[in-house]
Amino acid sequence: MKILAFESSCDETAVAVVEDGRKILTDQIFSQADLHAVYGGVVPEIASRCHVESISILAQRAIERAGITKEDIDAVAVTYAPGLIGAVLVGVNFAKACALALGVPLIPVHHIRGHIAANYLAYPELEPPFLCLAISGGNTILVDVRGYTDMKIIGATRDDAAGECFDKTARVLDLPYPGGRPIDELAQGGDDSKYTFPIAHVEGSPYDMSFSGLKTAVINLVHNAEQKGEEIDRPGLAASFTKAVSDSLVPRTMMAARELGYDKIVVAGGVAANSRIRADFKAAAEKRGYKLYIPPLKLCGDNGAMIGAQAYYEYLAGVRGGSDLNAYATMDL
Ligand code: KG4
Repeated sequence: MKILAFESSCDETAVAVVEDGRKILTDQIFSQADLHAVYGGVVPEIASRCHVESISILAQRAIERAGITKEDIDAVAVTYAPGLIGAVLVGVNFAKACALALGVPLIPVHHIRGHIAANYLAYPELEPPFLCLAISGGNTILVDVRGYTDMKIIGATRDDAAGECFDKTARVLDLPYPGGRPIDELAQGGDDSKYTFPIAHVEGSPYDMSFSGLKTAVINLVHNAEQKGEEIDRPGLAASFTKAVSDSLVPRTMMAARELGYDKIVVAGGVAANSRIRADFKAAAEKRGYKLYIPPLKLCGDNGAMIGAQAYYEYLAGVRGGSDLNAYATMDL
């Protein structure tokens, strides 16, 4: 089954063709990051306009590069939540029109379910149940994935997402947006014990997380140093900060796996590209004898293929979108 899949929830316009949920025939991505970089973050209105300008040409290119014709498409899938509402709407409306014109089913897909499904593309043997940590720019959640379409959030950040914390830290260090990768690069060779940052624990909710205190601590440290005219060890700061994020994510995920009886751990989302977090997960999983799945770097960030992968399983579960399908800024998993 060939699914034409659209993703436009933030600042990437992406169109993919995925076969049977597991095989990428093409994955076309147009990143708007450079457009937003001058503003230090995503400007929703600019994102929406840019999606409008690029989605049609990307869809045509996806069909060409997949080596198929429009008649070969069995279904159309689209991210319908969560995300920037204007941005999501562009994808939803375009996908609705495609499905109608081609006379094929429309499959709405939750963006974070898509991130989780990126792992099905990379690991043919991976099947639920498993425990998943989804870490992206807008979400940080621990998910009990009981089936392809049966998921329960068991823990979440109470405030900022991990990716947001990377982006804000980068901004205070005058690094470009999005800040995760520049922080990752700056941290290479940095001394991770140079600065001590808080790691939050939410009383009574051991699987919940919080990153706003860490973000504030970094901002205060940088501003205080500036006011006193003190030099900051930038690689040391990036490494110490990343260690604090990792120490908040990795042990908590391991604890949840142990308590829920899982020996399969999946990590998903843009922040899963972080080299320190990947290494810490690998070491922790090896120590406990758990199987670890993290997507290759190109499937960590937003892409259309992950939407096509999850859409296949949503389709098998009977999920369909009608011509009244709407876009949603927030939505339960
Ligand atoms: O999953 P994603 O592409 O978009 C959302 O669905 O939100 O995640 C984007 C986030 C951004 O905050 C970005 O700074 C972060 O992923 N990110 C990273 C790295 N690469 C991207 N964070 C840490 N280390 C990285 N190497």
